[in-house]
Amino acid sequence: MLAMNYRGPLRVRIDNKPMPEILHPQDAIVKVTRSCICGSDLHLYNGLVPDTRVGMTFGHEFIGEVVEVGPDVKKLKVGDNVIVPFNIACGKCAFCKQGLFGNCHESNSQATAVGGIFGYSHTAGGYDGGQAEYARVPYADVGPTVIPEGMDPDDAVLLTDVVPTGYQAAEMGGIQPGDTVVIFGAGPIGIMAARCSWLFGAGRVIVIDHVEYRLEFVKNYANCEAYNFRSMDDPVVFIKKTTDWMGADVCIDAVGADAAGNTMQTITGRKTMMQAGSATALHWAINGVKKGGIVSIVGVYGPTDNLVPIGNVVNKGITIRANQASVKRLLPKLIEHVKNGVIDPKALITHRFPLQEISDAYHIFSDELDNCIKPVLIP
Ligand SMILES: NC(=O)c1ccc[n+]([C@@H]2O[C@H](COP(=O)([O-])OP(=O)(O)OC[C@H]3O[C@@H](n4cnc5c(N)ncnc54)[C@H](O)[C@@H]3O)[C@@H](O)[C@H]2O)c1
Ligand SMILES: [Zn+2]
Ligand SMILES: [Zn+2]
Repeated sequence: MLAMNYRGPLRVRIDNKPMPEILHPQDAIVKVTRSCICGSDLHLYNGLVPDTRVGMTFGHEFIGEVVEVGPDVKKLKVGDNVIVPFNIACGKCAFCKQGLFGNCHESNSQATAVGGIFGYSHTAGGYDGGQAEYARVPYADVGPTVIPEGMDPDDAVLLTDVVPTGYQAAEMGGIQPGDTVVIFGAGPIGIMAARCSWLFGAGRVIVIDHVEYRLEFVKNYANCEAYNFRSMDDPVVFIKKTTDWMGADVCIDAVGADAAGNTMQTITGRKTMMQAGSATALHWAINGVKKGGIVSIVGVYGPTDNLVPIGNVVNKGITIRANQASVKRLLPKLIEHVKNGVIDPKALITHRFPLQEISDAYHIFSDELDNCIKPVLIP
């Protein structure tokens, strides 16, 4: 089958790889019909995630048709069209039982922090992902969810990650009616977090990035304010000024390890890798939130150390909430929101590529060319 093949930082190509096989009685094989590239894939692509091995197939956002099931699979049937959550979860461990499907204790033997994630390095379990014609899906009765009748596949594929992650970013912010929410990052996740912040009763939603076309997009899509940090002396002072010097009630980091905007962070976090990615957006979030406020982090960082102003967290009494999104927990509610038109995910899709053109797709998305917001691969 054709599959994306990682060859080292900034080098991905399409190759022939062996068909995935059922390795465990609870596995299914899914024929991929849509697969996205995510900002999370860019951390892998840029070589920032430890133990990303040459030969791996990325891709944690995919939908497809079930073509084979293992003997212990009871609910899923051959022929079902499914949304496959990006987290691989057993459904039975203490963490899955609490709804922490991103922190499953069984699906990732390599680490005790994050659970398994499709196509996301051996730090997240070493599972090949869905930027391929076929993918092996473990615990097939747990995560995969049948696509509701009539749902557009472009909406369905964004329910694997973007919609739940944006929603959970807002949810973890503990937004109270009337709150001012500041979101760093106008990529798909920040855009969805902005849209979802209103659902929790935000009074004001502000998005900060430095890519003009994305700021323009989010302003219209999420009906919010959008500002370019390159036109500010200091984003923290900007936030203070615009909130009567109080600070934002809630700040959301939807940027993560590849953040721009601070030379020292960029050199130590992205160029020399003396820390696990640049923590620039997280700095701004911690320093821009009010005393007693909440910082919600969905931006991804490496598992080792980062330079963050922890003293300010203590002195300001900030609550930090963070996680990989728990897709399965949120799916029932978010499927309803999509059906009822409360959220319109497919509007984010700007580009479609045949799987064969994967290296162009990574290049265009990574370099923010051609007004790209969210690219979809069609195997
Ligand atoms: N926690 C989860 O479950 C989860 C799931 C999906 C994605 N993510 C993470 O969320 C983050 C965003 O994902 P995405 O797909 O939107 O990525 P993306 O790369 O498309 O978007 C990131 C945006 O941040 C902007 N940016 C860079 N530096 C900035 C700064 N200092 N301040 C404000 N904006 C800045 C970039 O210009 C870009 O528009 C990534 O770190 C990704 O790994 C987490
Ligand atoms: Zn993703
Ligand atoms: Zn589990």
